[in-house]
Amino acid sequence: MIALNFHGQTAVISGGLEGIGKAIADLLHLGGANVVVGDIGVRARQQGDRSLLVHTDVACRADAEALIADAVSTFGAVDILVNNCGVSAMSPLEAMSDSDWQRILDVNLKGTAYLSQAAIRVMRPRQAGRIINIASQAGKNGYRLMGQYVASKHAVLGLTKVMAIELAGDNILVNAVCPGIVETAMKWRERVEGALLRGLTAGEIYTEDCSQVPLGRTAQPGDVANVVAFLASPLSSYMTGQAINVTGGMTMH
Ligand SMILES: NC(=O)c1ccc[n+]([C@@H]2O[C@H](COP(=O)([O-])OP(=O)(O)OC[C@H]3O[C@@H](n4cnc5c(N)ncnc54)[C@H](O)[C@@H]3O)[C@@H](O)[C@H]2O)c1
Repeated sequence: MIALNFHGQTAVISGGLEGIGKAIADLLHLGGANVVVGDIGVRARQQGDRSLLVHTDVACRADAEALIADAVSTFGAVDILVNNCGVSAMSPLEAMSDSDWQRILDVNLKGTAYLSQAAIRVMRPRQAGRIINIASQAGKNGYRLMGQYVASKHAVLGLTKVMAIELAGDNILVNAVCPGIVETAMKWRERVEGALLRGLTAGEIYTEDCSQVPLGRTAQPGDVANVVAFLASPLSSYMTGQAINVTGGMTMH
């Protein structure tokens, strides 16, 4: 096994209080990184051993800039940015609301751009950095009742490609991870909302989900974190602009 070694590096993770983001924060911290989590669920700024939690709404540019500034003043730099946080809503096309459009695009797409812009200002003078965007297999396929989310994740993959091209000359590598079905609070909210709309139970949707994965099980957050750690490490130093599936074989393109 290759040991993770992020000693002396600082990673900023949005939405790192729960779910996939927490697994990423925990793994990078285990690997020695200073870990800064910006999450809307944080009540008060909290600093610990190589760790910092900051209340952040990524949809607010001022919050995104303040998070990166806090990471730099606390730990001296930002080496790795993981744009993880995301939101979803279940709705048929004809009922999609303006408020859901705004929330989903503001958090998933503009939030990724705001944090990246702030991080690039810190990374470019050092001619080094990794930016990892947590997209989804919904950035490559369509899924019923998820029009706004699917559109936002396709857009995140588009933004990832542009960032990779614009930043390659500064040795800032930008890649996306496309998780499949991951057991988190978000996934269960989607199952409960989807069940109501489809006349099923959330448990029936869980069974349906498992049956669609060639590896025979849905993902745990740690399955995604492992790939993020790879993309943050020197092992991936010849990769940029990629969208890596972590789907148990459910998506193969
Ligand atoms: N769970 C899945 O099956 C799945 C599949 C593919 C992609 N993803 C993507 O993975 C990422 C993480 O998803 P998850 O399932 O862990 O979600 P989750 O809802 O379980 O956790 C999301 C975290 O983000 C935080 N957050 C929400 N809005 C925020 C905001 N405006 N600013 C800062 N923080 C905010 C929440 O407080 C929470 O801690 C998302 O981008 C999601 O779209 C999830």
